[in-house]
Amino acid sequence: MATPPTDVLIAVEQVHKSFPLPDGKGEFNVLSDINVTVRSGEVVALLGRSGSGKSTLLRTMAGLIAPSQGRVLSHGKPLRGANNDVAMVFQSFALLPWLTVQQNVELGLEAQGVPREERRQRALKAIDLVGLDGFESAYPKELSGGMKQRVGFARAFVLEPQVLFMDEPFSALDVLTSENLRGEIDDLWNAGTFPSKSILIVTHNIEEGVFLADRVIILGSNPGRVRGEVVIDLPRSHDRTSDRFKALVDYIYTVMTNPDAEVTSAAPVAVPVSSTPRSPYARALPHARVGGISGLLELIVDQPDGRDDIPRLADRIQLEVDDLLPILDAAVLLGFAEVSQGDVQLTAIGQDFATTTILRSKDLFRQQALHNVPVLSSMAQTLREKKSQSMRADFFLDLLDEYYPHEEAEKQFATAVDWGRYAELFEYDASEDRLYLPEPAIAQIGGDI
Ligand SMILES: Nc1ncnc2c1ncn2[C@@H]1O[C@H](COP(=O)(O)OP(=O)(O)OP(=O)(O)O)[C@@H](O)[C@H]1O
Ligand SMILES: [Mg+2]
Repeated sequence: MATPPTDVLIAVEQVHKSFPLPDGKGEFNVLSDINVTVRSGEVVALLGRSGSGKSTLLRTMAGLIAPSQGRVLSHGKPLRGANNDVAMVFQSFALLPWLTVQQNVELGLEAQGVPREERRQRALKAIDLVGLDGFESAYPKELSGGMKQRVGFARAFVLEPQVLFMDEPFSALDVLTSENLRGEIDDLWNAGTFPSKSILIVTHNIEEGVFLADRVIILGSNPGRVRGEVVIDLPRSHDRTSDRFKALVDYIYTVMTNPDAEVTSAAPVAVPVSSTPRSPYARALPHARVGGISGLLELIVDQPDGRDDIPRLADRIQLEVDDLLPILDAAVLLGFAEVSQGDVQLTAIGQDFATTTILRSKDLFRQQALHNVPVLSSMAQTLREKKSQSMRADFFLDLLDEYYPHEEAEKQFATAVDWGRYAELFEYDASEDRLYLPEPAIAQIGGDI
């Protein structure tokens, strides 16, 4: 076997990771056949939706958890235990409240047995680098969120790791603070004074990925897998106002809103026909409530031609991508909207739905749900087949439990109930925890299926 090129610091080879489902009901596949490398001198972003396994992949690469299959190489050698080339910055800062800034920063060096005076010098240097000069003896509770995260960076920098891992480091901060800190990290990197050779950043913020990274690796969900990568072919620092920057952001929005689209570096996206999973219960619903879907459609219908640019839309309504995408997904799944080239366009039915009366919009929703959302027609069908025309909610939860961890199964159930109730496909009695067919809907379902 050829030796790997020396500039590959970390290589992930055919990694699979699954966790056992509760009650020994098989396994939940979190990562599937992951191949990723991090080379010296680059910033790589891992972009994916909530639950796509980004943190799990990061922890696997850091040697904190072992893959179920496949392997992680560090400098060409299989990793055993923690990866000493890596330091991590967490979203939650993870500072020890009873230690000062200086003591928090020295902690990792103490664990490595670095002598006291050297520890002090290195910590002071790291604290200086993140702009916290003068706060060495402050306690975390005296610091703002942005300053706490600066300590988080200093604590990682002081270890002088080959690769710095960051797991959504800016997402717990307010917009201005995160913007500021992100800019400073980028400046340090561009100036060549960054204390590590490479950066791997996990994010669900597309613009953050395009701004910071040289390559954006896009993860898909269920199971988490690499869909492809987009090379950010911009000179550093990446100019957000440039047409190319906007085109890259638009392109990534497009592939993120089309789970089946092939990811290529620049070409327009073709959406292959997806194969439908066997059970309707295995097909995950995007977590969006009817109120959110119809609200979004109402905003878009007011735009010229019922068309909107997705990044602009997100910006206008101050929604995180993670919150907007499931709503868009739901609108697309229901046939109310189409997404292409970073734009969302309402379909004729979507325009009708957004502008008509409440009664007619319920009819339209029911019609679209029955045609496009197999789990809803299947649940209604099950109720119809029962003499009592009702069923314990647990029955449906059990079916969902076959395919998702319990918490996700509950979320899937809640979404299905929200949609099904609005469509008047079924009622849900929370006190009895039962679903039943509403009287007037029985004939309609019979006619529609
Ligand atoms: N130790 C574990 N046991 C069981 N399931 C787990 C475990 N760790 C993660 N998972 C599941 O794996 C999936 C991926 O989790 P992970 O935290 O890696 O996702 P993520 O992409 O980082 O999401 P987020 O953007 O919300 O941080 C989730 O469904 C999660 O519930
Ligand atoms: Mg995560």
